[in-house]
Amino acid sequence: MGNIIIRNATVFTPRGKSARRGAEMAEIIRIPKASVIIEGGVITYVGPSDAEPTLDPSIKFQELDAVHKAVIPGFVDSHTHLIFGGFRHEEFGWRLKGDSYMSIMERGGGIQSTVNATRQASLGELVRKARWFVDVMSRMGVTTVEAKSGYGLDLETELRMLEAIDLLDRDPGTPLRVVSTFLGAHAVPSEYKGNTKGYVDLLIEKILPQVKGKARFFDIFTEKNVFEIDDSRRLLNAAKTAGFDLKLHADEIVTLGGAELAAEVGAVSADHLLHVSDEGIRRMAEKNVVATLLPLTAFALREPYAPARKFIEAGAAVALATDLNPGSCFSGSIPLTIALACIYMGMSVEETLTALTLNGAAAVGMSDTIGSLEVGKSGDVVILNFDSIAALPYYVGMNTVRTVVASGRVVADNSHL
Ligand code: NIG
Ligand code: FE
Repeated sequence: MGNIIIRNATVFTPRGKSARRGAEMAEIIRIPKASVIIEGGVITYVGPSDAEPTLDPSIKFQELDAVHKAVIPGFVDSHTHLIFGGFRHEEFGWRLKGDSYMSIMERGGGIQSTVNATRQASLGELVRKARWFVDVMSRMGVTTVEAKSGYGLDLETELRMLEAIDLLDRDPGTPLRVVSTFLGAHAVPSEYKGNTKGYVDLLIEKILPQVKGKARFFDIFTEKNVFEIDDSRRLLNAAKTAGFDLKLHADEIVTLGGAELAAEVGAVSADHLLHVSDEGIRRMAEKNVVATLLPLTAFALREPYAPARKFIEAGAAVALATDLNPGSCFSGSIPLTIALACIYMGMSVEETLTALTLNGAAAVGMSDTIGSLEVGKSGDVVILNFDSIAALPYYVGMNTVRTVVASGRVVADNSHL
């Protein structure tokens, strides 16, 4: 837990302890010539440098000069699948030639092929591989990342994936905070092909009781020919009873009513939403379900982008995340996520910043402690190479992050570039 003082910065941050909704998403506070003081990993001052409080002389502070630099909260990537065995470059080639994501999945490839590889992978292999992604993401300014299981689809491998997530989170050498999600309902595994009910029963009766307490969230791929609405409802209600907070992969490939179901079961977020209905948008806004939009996946699948403006106009909270995974979207690029949101989804830079910080924090249930630069929140701060957040989408797909501070410690430094 570090002590850091950042001086002469131009601070840009959303404010609050919960998701910003609708028009509030554009409310970014700008403080010129500002200092951010972090003591014991927690922010104790954000304000003008010339009004800084006197520092306790017995505490040693690392000083960072941010003259002509924008300073923003650390990014929260609230939807990733960064633990997995194998790769799927062959399948990517098929998709480039015109095969659809679902047709590959239906003939036993897709998620099932990563399941086969993950079942073969040891705990050490899973962690080593994930650490590379985590380091790369940290250099792009991510200080909190959500990570899902879901490539085991049996008790043993799901537990191994959750253990890998926990090790990454607790490893003092890992620069990121990692929030865990149990995604046992990612697909029906090949041994249950044609017997979805059998797999749903296994999840509810055998697996859920064992993974209880080992993940904060329960997530499900609610999709045509995967888990349809009735099975999804049964699983989500069982998970809620077991104490999980809920997330859904909803309305990604077809309009199925996943958004409406998310509102009905009181999910924290519904994610993807490329094909969400207007009624689904309205119900999510009404029940304050965070709409987590994943533009890199739409880009990689050549699908239309999710209707971000409709969500914002309906008064919903929008978060943005990468969806890093070996299949539909093999990218954890925060810079490209920002560019796609601003260029193709009609989001302003301010809305995009809120979506990747405070609203991402809300999507992982942590908006009271991370996601904005405010006294009492964790000292998770990104110093950009430029003095304005306008540079974020302007540098299309390029990393504009200079220094990353997590819990008051410098965890990534690109200042030599
Ligand atoms: O978020 N759609 C389901 N799950 C992932 C893809 C997982 C995979 O293809 O391995 C997604 O797109
Ligand atoms: Fe996903």
